Amino acid sequence: MPNEHKDPYKPKTRILLGVTGSISAYKAASLASALVKKDYLVQCAATKSALQFIGPAALEGITRRMLQTDMFADSSEIAHIELARWADLILIYPASAATLARLRMGLAEDLISAVFLANNFKVPFWIAPAMNSSMLEHPATRENLDILAGWGARIIDPDAGLLACGEVGSGRLAEPETMLALIEDFRAET
Ligand SMILES: Cc1cc2nc3c(=O)[nH]c(=O)nc-3n(C[C@H](O)[C@H](O)[C@H](O)COP(=O)(O)O)c2cc1C
Repeated sequence: MPNEHKDPYKPKTRILLGVTGSISAYKAASLASALVKKDYLVQCAATKSALQFIGPAALEGITRRMLQTDMFADSSEIAHIELARWADLILIYPASAATLARLRMGLAEDLISAVFLANNFKVPFWIAPAMNSSMLEHPATRENLDILAGWGARIIDPDAGLLACGEVGSGRLAEPETMLALIEDFRAET
């Protein structure tokens, strides 16, 4: 398939796509697919909770790379350090409330949180929250997002609308098309 982004002299832009435990995790597969079609190298990482919502086969089949979930899967690799060094852009899509709290506290308990610390904003770190609107508006979450933004993370505002829980409000994960456009802008600038 012809691809206007394919430049044999320019290395592919490497996206680390972190997926966490939200009902909207299926959108990560759509985003990964759109990115691969645009000639990005996409490596997915997922929390254990994320795997309740989306299976490894979808993310691995789309990206043709093994999904990373476990810091201890192969200790000879030190996965969180390797991934933190590998990426040109790190995106958590979707980012759960629990993951936001872990990032804000610097709790390197899982692979994605450990990558966050190990990368320490050497490359752009984007966070796309998704949750019920009460969870989003809770002072704990608001404060977590403010602090993460203050440190240098780019927060991708969630959309408003009908949520999976049946409520109407803010908290819908930004659509894959929106994310793709932002990532395309990032690639064009770098
Ligand atoms: C059906 C269902 C849907 C959920 N959706 C969300 C969500 O959209 N956002 C969120 O922050 N938590 C959501 N949760 C709760 C998280 O999955 C839970 O807090 C989990 O511990 C997050 O773990 P993680 O951050 O390690 O992925 C949901 C739970 C269930 C059972």
